[in-house]
Amino acid sequence: MKKVTKAIIPAAGLGTRVLPATKAQPKEMLVIVDKPSLQYIVEELVASGITDIVIVTGRNKNSIEDHFDFSYELENTLRKDGKMELLKKVDDISNMANIYYVRQNHPLGLGHAILKAKSFIGDEPFIIALGDDIVYNPETPVAKQLIDTYNKYGGNIIGVQEVKKEDVSKYGVVKPSKILDEDTVEMIDFIEKPSMEEAPSNLACLGRYLLSPEIFDYLETTEAGKGGEIQLTDGILKMLQNNKKVIAYTFKGKRYDIGNKIGLLKANIEFGLRNPETKNDLIDFLKNEIKL
Ligand code: G1P
Repeated sequence: MKKVTKAIIPAAGLGTRVLPATKAQPKEMLVIVDKPSLQYIVEELVASGITDIVIVTGRNKNSIEDHFDFSYELENTLRKDGKMELLKKVDDISNMANIYYVRQNHPLGLGHAILKAKSFIGDEPFIIALGDDIVYNPETPVAKQLIDTYNKYGGNIIGVQEVKKEDVSKYGVVKPSKILDEDTVEMIDFIEKPSMEEAPSNLACLGRYLLSPEIFDYLETTEAGKGGEIQLTDGILKMLQNNKKVIAYTFKGKRYDIGNKIGLLKANIEFGLRNPETKNDLIDFLKNEIKL
């Protein structure tokens, strides 16, 4: 079993659901308490043993590169002012992992964005972590859970959770077949954003994948699907149709969809309640507000 050390974070989307916040800044840089959402994802990957990350970006995304880079002026100022704790926080960001960038150049869909990272991945299994999905699990980060599942069963792993029936049309939805254990099931079908009637289950892909590099061959011949875009789901479906093993793993952790307004607010409140610096004031504030 090859060790999983590489990951792709697609971050080229336009973030239209949170406009105008994303007019001049990437949605991946929107803040949750004191960190851009993308940093939570990079931290999850690093805590899972990933050492090399490629971020697929597009226009207007330069602040992502600046954020993960060494900031000479800022670090010097913090050092001069004796703000050593902050200095460490800032410096750690630029040392977390080897981060590379590739531009998507045409917004042709998630499958196309992943294909852009092909030469970076080479011949190894790798993780995909979508920027809209933040998962909180301080014990075992979700990417690590996928790697553990891969080490046990091999194949390709799709991170899923059950969603409400009325929400299935927002996701790639899995048709399960053979049960492997209580959290893990082999798949026989994968449908991108089905209607409630079409959905084969309520097990939805929530933005984490562990895939074999074979996916690139399938994506290369995948035509535009739902929404006129080249869908990663359709590439994975092709793998299934060619008898490749694809497993749905129900991961443990609380997931936030930060690609929309309410998800972003919920994430801010819950992470704010977990943060010792903001917790007490936030509780007082919420108590007062809710009384109104
Ligand atoms: C993408 C995928 C979808 C997946 C979802 C998870 O959709 O295409 O299969 O379930 O992410 O967040 P998007 O939300 O980018 O439209």
